[in-house]
Amino acid sequence: MALTWGVLLVSIAVTIAIAVLLAVGLWHRPGIKPSAPGAALEVQRTQGGLRWVWIGVAVSSLILLGSVAWTMQVLARVTSPATQPALTIEVTGRQWWWQIRYLSADPSRSFTTANEIHIPAGVPVLFRLVGGDVIHSFWVPALFGKTDVIPGQTNETWLQARAPGVYQGQCTEYCGLQHARMGFLLIADTPAAFQDWWAHQLQSPAQAMSPEVNVGRSSFNVHCGSCHAVRGTDAAGVLGPDLSHLMTHRTLAAGMLANDAANLTHWISDPQALKPGSMMPKPDITAAELAEIHSYVDTLN
Ligand code: CUA
Repeated sequence: MALTWGVLLVSIAVTIAIAVLLAVGLWHRPGIKPSAPGAALEVQRTQGGLRWVWIGVAVSSLILLGSVAWTMQVLARVTSPATQPALTIEVTGRQWWWQIRYLSADPSRSFTTANEIHIPAGVPVLFRLVGGDVIHSFWVPALFGKTDVIPGQTNETWLQARAPGVYQGQCTEYCGLQHARMGFLLIADTPAAFQDWWAHQLQSPAQAMSPEVNVGRSSFNVHCGSCHAVRGTDAAGVLGPDLSHLMTHRTLAAGMLANDAANLTHWISDPQALKPGSMMPKPDITAAELAEIHSYVDTLN
């Protein structure tokens, strides 16, 4: 902010100085008159004019060098976090969703989720960006600039949310048919709420369930379990989002739909109608199976 105002004030001062010097020059022009009407003007070179040119060049060079040094110093300060990030989140871009992996020195505290990233507010967080298929770009406009997510290369970026809140994120590199629907939410929690959220994510969903939900779980494992995982169950697919705590999510289908009963039914029954081209096929299930699967997915808190 200081840099913006500083450079703006310098620019205004330089503009005013040039305007004043130009006005003075025009005002003090030597009274040269043609020797005879219609004759060419006789140009006189007074001594000392060149000196002022060199003084002008020196002064503007110094001002420019000063602003360059100031800009470099501010850039260096904003590109690295004030403190070493304590949390590293690995984000993998896929057509057309985000796999989110929370890394921890203790492997039993690592877990995978999708499309909604929780972070603690007020501290820097490091993001490790991995390309899963084609080039994507990771962007939360309110918090930081774009960083490309490139297959075969791991890019790193960091961000810090000053205050708790929900920030919209978006893929910002054209990556195919549903590029525009490759969004995500970045949710900044208070540090205590973030720790609670993490502890909850590590748990397996509840095991006690009604007969209908139990049937739904078997159906889910058959029809959905080779692409989706639910921690602690036979569903262990890795092609699609991990659904262990889907019902704690605000959105479905990478930020596209609100996570409510109607959208969930629609999405499970015919994803190609909502997001044509996505990897999730229309499942071959009856209306009864759909209701059972839905009642099971509803328990994934
Ligand atoms: Cu992923 Cu655009």
